[in-house]
Amino acid sequence: MKIELSENKVFYNHNGQKKEIHPFWLRERVNGDKYIDYKTQQRLFDPTQLKENVEISRLKLSENFLEVSFEDGITTKMAIENIIKEFSTDSDIKLIKKIKWDSKLKDFNYFDFNENFFEEKLMFDALTKFYQYGFVIFRKVPTSNNFLVNFANSIGSIRRTNFGEYFDVKSKPNPNDLAYTSLPLTPHTDNPYRNPVPCIQILHCIENEVSGGYSTLVDGYTVTEQLKNDFPEFYEILTEIKIRFQFIDESVVLESWAEMISLDENKQFKQVRFSPRLDFVPLLEKSKLELFYKARNKISELYKSDDFRIEFKLTPGDLLMMDNHRLLHGRTVYDANEGKRFLQGCYIDYDSTEGRLKHLKRKFNL
Ligand SMILES: [Fe+2]
Repeated sequence: MKIELSENKVFYNHNGQKKEIHPFWLRERVNGDKYIDYKTQQRLFDPTQLKENVEISRLKLSENFLEVSFEDGITTKMAIENIIKEFSTDSDIKLIKKIKWDSKLKDFNYFDFNENFFEEKLMFDALTKFYQYGFVIFRKVPTSNNFLVNFANSIGSIRRTNFGEYFDVKSKPNPNDLAYTSLPLTPHTDNPYRNPVPCIQILHCIENEVSGGYSTLVDGYTVTEQLKNDFPEFYEILTEIKIRFQFIDESVVLESWAEMISLDENKQFKQVRFSPRLDFVPLLEKSKLELFYKARNKISELYKSDDFRIEFKLTPGDLLMMDNHRLLHGRTVYDANEGKRFLQGCYIDYDSTEGRLKHLKRKFNL
């Protein structure tokens, strides 16, 4: 993209198409101490109080800068690079390409934790891996005093749910969720009945003395792409029909209507929801339901297939951070009589990881 001038107007030339930049767009971007607070990058003026039809009185374009004088007497010098950056609405995160993976994945993105980790370049690398693969495992994370809360709040801030600020995953009497038993958990996403669904789950292994209880992960993105390719009709109906997810216990009733596969505004993968014990399809025409049930069975079969699932054992100090909108997680059965198995979990949202990643990118000039 190129910036060009003609008759006191500024144009951008993109793929041979030349279009004028609105003078007000430039006017509200004036920089300098008088107009912008350097630290916060917030405006020191209110653009809604300016005259809308502000005109340009003088322009000067050099290789790297555009100098603009407006008829209200304000002059500014803008870096061309910054103007071009604003042409794209893609964030740094969207530019990180997702990497599809299945059971053949060998590298589980392990990173060793240390005290200064949150401010290090290594954290940037870990977060980049997280956005590529949907998960990352930190090792040697302190296990005392619910350090998990500290960890989550050092990336961003904890997202509290009805399970509390954080939750202890171990078998207990009268559980309100199967997670709190020693039963196997087939791949599922957490909290599909919440609106919005918590974005990221953090699971921290405190103790694990049992021989079973392996953690399992499946890439919902890979499975979705496979379904789209091999069973387009199933893909279509699962991206189309909103179903009701619900959670009920003594103190709360949570319900959310959503598709099992949600797409973004460009019809690209956005999120999967899968928890077949608490999803309720509305009463639709018989033929539509027939197709829906076939599609749900197929995606369930793919999610549970050995072809897509990775299995690994979390050992004390391991902390798994996974994308709850992209991955499914579960665990294999274990025998509670063999010893202790104790994990702690909590959620954070995408603004936490995005904010940290962008901060580290800025800090290390990446
Ligand atoms: Fe879960």
